[in-house]
Amino acid sequence: YGDPSQNIDYVFKVVLIGDSAVGKSQILARFSRNEFSLDSKATIGVEFQTRTLVIEHKSVKAQIWDTAGQERYRAVTSAYYRGAVGAMLVYDITKRQTFDHIPRWLEELRSHADKNIVIILIGNKCDLENQREVPTEDAKEFAQKEGLFFLETSALEATNVETAFMTVLTEIF
Ligand code: GTP
Ligand code: MG
Repeated sequence: YGDPSQNIDYVFKVVLIGDSAVGKSQILARFSRNEFSLDSKATIGVEFQTRTLVIEHKSVKAQIWDTAGQERYRAVTSAYYRGAVGAMLVYDITKRQTFDHIPRWLEELRSHADKNIVIILIGNKCDLENQREVPTEDAKEFAQKEGLFFLETSALEATNVETAFMTVLTEIF
């Protein structure tokens, strides 16, 4: 199928949301460039990265949008969600509060995004097992109740990052 960048069959916009410092930007860095940084700066406004993949013999350009978890740095919400066909709702497994805020993020997502948007709940930083504050079962139960996909990831160790994106992109497809 040659260079997948030559003929793009589909462009899928996917948005990352969740509290500040849960690792959204590093999940994106891992997926788009296979990079990771421990001294990641808080995102200001909106950034995006793309990566082209082949799914079922078609070239799919994933356009992943990343915004600030901090309210004061966030860009206009409706523009951020416009046209998004997938969403990654991220919390940090070592910070209970970031999981407790997930219903609020979900509410914002549901009020701004298309009703058919594919959503995955992501518990990031699973490399920090000894600092865990959110049991896997709690998140799994919440995801099931809300009809979301669910995975625990580590951007640091590259655990499940690829799988998380593929889960969303394949489902959109
Ligand atoms: P905002 O842009 O403020 O919304 O934050 P963010 O969600 O984009 O967080 P960011 O990706 O900047 O990561 C915050 C901190 O967590 C940084 O120090 C990262 O290096 C660290 N981090 C991100 N992912 C992981 C991970 O999987 N494991 C560990 N141990 N640290 C991580
Ligand atoms: Mg960020």
